[in-house]
Amino acid sequence: MSVDQSAIKLSNVTVKFAGRSGVVTALRDLSFDVKRSEIVNLVGPSGCGKSTCLGLVAGLRAPTRGDVFVEGKRSLSRVTMLASCSKKTC
Ligand SMILES: Nc1ncnc2c1ncn2[C@@H]1O[C@H](COP(=O)(O)OP(=O)(O)OP(=O)(O)O)[C@@H](O)[C@H]1O
Ligand SMILES: [Mg+2]
Repeated sequence: MSVDQSAIKLSNVTVKFAGRSGVVTALRDLSFDVKRSEIVNLVGPSGCGKSTCLGLVAGLRAPTRGDVFVEGKRSLSRVTMLASCSKKTC
């Protein structure tokens, strides 16, 4: 990783969930960078999407649209990767 490369980068990320009463947009067109050694707080009212955002960075879910990069690599949802892996019976 180069010195000025972002440790975490979200680029135009949207996340939608299929809720009981329709589609919920948890994140809409969110972009930000976190450089190595930076400390960032996510602050906002309940339901604004903090946990959804952390879930993307942790690889627990994939964005509906946009890209998530961790250490310069596109972060794929580990759940998606496991599903793909089990399809190939690896
Ligand atoms: N699995 C899910 N299915 C449907 N809707 C969801 C799901 N997970 C989150 N949501 C919805 O997405 C929005 C963002 O939720 P999220 O949990 O990310 O918010 P939060 O900022 O972490 O809230 P809190 O401060 O209460 O923890 C909310 O409207 C929530 O109801
Ligand atoms: Mg939360």
